[in-house]
Amino acid sequence: MAAYYVSTPIYYVNDAPHLGHAYTTVAGDVLTRWHRQRGEDVWYLTGTDEHGQKVMRTAEANGVSPQEWCDKLVEEAWKPLWQHLQIANDDFIRTTEPRHTRRVQEFVQDLYDKGEIYKGSYTGPYCVGCEEFKTPGELLEGDLCPIHKRPVEWLQEDNYFFKLSEYGPRLLEHYERHPDFIQPASARNEVVQFVKQGLQDLSISRSTFDWGVPVPWDDKHVIYVWVDALLNYVTAVGYGSDPERFERIWPANVHLVGKDILRFHAVIWPAMLMAQGLPLPGKVFANGWLMVGGEKMSKSNLTGISPHQLTDHFGVDAYRYYFLRAIPFGQDGSFSWEDFTARYTSELANDFGNLASRVAAMVGKYFGGVLPSAEGDYHIAQALAETAAEADRAIGDELDFAGGLGRIFDFVKQVNGYLSEQEPWKVAKDASPEGQARLAEILYTAAESLRAVAVLLNPVMPTTCAKLWASLGAEPHLGPLAEQRVLDAGRWGQLPAGAAVTKGEILFPRLEGQ
Ligand code: ME8
Ligand code: MG
Repeated sequence: MAAYYVSTPIYYVNDAPHLGHAYTTVAGDVLTRWHRQRGEDVWYLTGTDEHGQKVMRTAEANGVSPQEWCDKLVEEAWKPLWQHLQIANDDFIRTTEPRHTRRVQEFVQDLYDKGEIYKGSYTGPYCVGCEEFKTPGELLEGDLCPIHKRPVEWLQEDNYFFKLSEYGPRLLEHYERHPDFIQPASARNEVVQFVKQGLQDLSISRSTFDWGVPVPWDDKHVIYVWVDALLNYVTAVGYGSDPERFERIWPANVHLVGKDILRFHAVIWPAMLMAQGLPLPGKVFANGWLMVGGEKMSKSNLTGISPHQLTDHFGVDAYRYYFLRAIPFGQDGSFSWEDFTARYTSELANDFGNLASRVAAMVGKYFGGVLPSAEGDYHIAQALAETAAEADRAIGDELDFAGGLGRIFDFVKQVNGYLSEQEPWKVAKDASPEGQARLAEILYTAAESLRAVAVLLNPVMPTTCAKLWASLGAEPHLGPLAEQRVLDAGRWGQLPAGAAVTKGEILFPRLEGQ
């Protein structure tokens, strides 16, 4: 079976991860967990980008070798954060690993042998923050990088060039034939405009410092860090070392990137693959920027917020939920404590958490914790089937996390509304067989709805949903939560009568200071 392969950018290790890196990585984790719950063979890759001047200078400023710096940051900051956020990546690639560097050299040597690379010299602006050759036209007043708002450097050095300019027509044809290749539409339009203006050849080596993969035929040069970095997507899955594995996993279905690095992924990377005759990825999806004070949140303007500060306060699951729910994927968005607090309280604690605890409490009180037998409410069953189908399309196919989660939470609201209308606490006072049957009907409906909600939210909030699954007594009858299929979640009547419903832990405790 061909794997469903999703990648994140490999992040620079000049500093510790911040909310922006976590945003893309959590999105990829939710997407891949969703596809695992579709029963697919999934491969989720993340990693670190360790070469280049930016990392080299940071290491120098800290008085250690670049390799020591990278080792420390990867082990003490990056990997622990992904673990903390419950990121279920299948591999973690570091560009300083020999499994990567050897293949990078082979790839570049191959292009050289094919006549795709020639020697020249580059004169022009370069932003070390972006590790990108810029054109004078795109700089802000005072020769500032438009992303970093810091002065660019002027390079004049001998470089090797890749004949990128020849790939414009083929790239445009590919965008035309695969309208979903670049998403969202705004990102696609930007790239099409850019390529239509005509591409320049790309410098693919640097010769004024040595922290990089040596150019195999000329060791005075190191390979340009972006060419090195982009290749991680193939070196990590067996390119040049394990053809069978490569065949199974490549091409990637989705490269997740931030819009700051869209052109590298939607222009340079496909051209590199074309030059080598390799299949192109299915989709490059550019997420928008998390903004702080009207600027892209970055290492220099974080205003002191780390993912840990937020997870300490809100918990990991709420963190995973919040950004995907609050910001339409592909658009920019701002973060605020007030908004996070408001969503935590109304959506997670009141709508979802209370529903779970009320239902468990009532099954406990009225039926001794044994789920009664009933068919359940037809309208709720219908709404659930639609919810599951729509959430599956939104999250699994369209990467519309906000839309899919919105749909699931509308359903949660609907079930709450149903309970308020039906007033089971009043029905419970009617001891007649009809009254008891009515009560069973209501509580079965709510419990079976929660069974489905646990399945649908598991990719986003795995710890919370595991608690809910346990409280519904579902596992002995239905098996482990992670093995429940998302689409099948909409099939009514799965939680059987007799399930042992217990009042579990509170799913979303009151926030401190509230
Ligand atoms: O660019 N909002 O690494 P990087 C949303 N090494 N996403 C953000 C963000 C923000 N404010 N800030 C960062 C590099 N990101 C290269 C990638 S890939 C072959 C090489 C996320 O450490 C977003 O995904 O600068 C962005 O593209 C990425 O982090 C940049 O991470
Ligand atoms: Mg960056």
